[in-house]
Amino acid sequence: MKCGLMSMLLVCNCLLFASDFSLYDEHEYINIITQLLQSVWPDKKPNVLPYEHTWFSRKKIAEFNRLFSRKKFKLIVELGSWLGGSAKFFLNKMPEAHVIAIDHWKGSIEHQNIYSNLLPTLYETFLVNCWKHKDRLIPLRATTLKGMEYIYSLGLQPDLFYVDASHDYDSVMADLEFIYKYFPNTTITGDDWSWSKPHLGLHFPVRKAVQDFAKKYGFKIYARDQFWRLYF
Ligand SMILES: C[S@@+](CC[C@H](N)C(=O)[O-])C[C@H]1O[C@@H](n2cnc3c(N)ncnc32)[C@H](O)[C@@H]1O
Repeated sequence: MKCGLMSMLLVCNCLLFASDFSLYDEHEYINIITQLLQSVWPDKKPNVLPYEHTWFSRKKIAEFNRLFSRKKFKLIVELGSWLGGSAKFFLNKMPEAHVIAIDHWKGSIEHQNIYSNLLPTLYETFLVNCWKHKDRLIPLRATTLKGMEYIYSLGLQPDLFYVDASHDYDSVMADLEFIYKYFPNTTITGDDWSWSKPHLGLHFPVRKAVQDFAKKYGFKIYARDQFWRLYF
């Protein structure tokens, strides 16, 4: 991380959780986004080949097309980006928006064996795949909770979340609780409504977490295939 961002991070960390400030001044917003963009991308493209693979299926694209035709979003946060397929969709569909992609780029538990060949250079391949979006895409290499803490500490209030990182119940619940506590006015969407891995002891963990969360806070759920969205 470069110096500007580091000092901004230190200052903002002091304020973290101590205040409920958010910067909606356009000038401040652009300043923060510009500093982030300048800080997170390496100067040189990593020396790996591009490789495309995504779970962002046609059905999900259709759901987001419907959502985007009704509402424009300015700052989209994706939890779990993998090789950038879904992030690139958001960028292409919302040409005015910035996208923050939070991922530790270590792969999820279920990827460890089947995609073991991709994992050593997963982050570098993501950067190469997304290189032409360097002006609007902010990769944050962190756990989802640390990444969101950082976004909050900067005073940013994203207006759309796409939850697609760890799929176990506790992780999904923790992601949702954090989002709602610190970004209460955002739109929350996600993947894996019908994901189930009984051999790993995971019976529709995402669905259960989303349902319990919705019940706790009074949200309604729209779900089709793997896509889900919360609303009041
Ligand atoms: C299913 S993939 C994301 C797929 C991507 N959204 C797409 O549609 O192409 C899940 C990603 O979440 C990341 N991930 C899993 N658990 C995480 C966590 N706790 N914090 C940050 N990233 C995580 C993994 O590294 C992986 O890249």
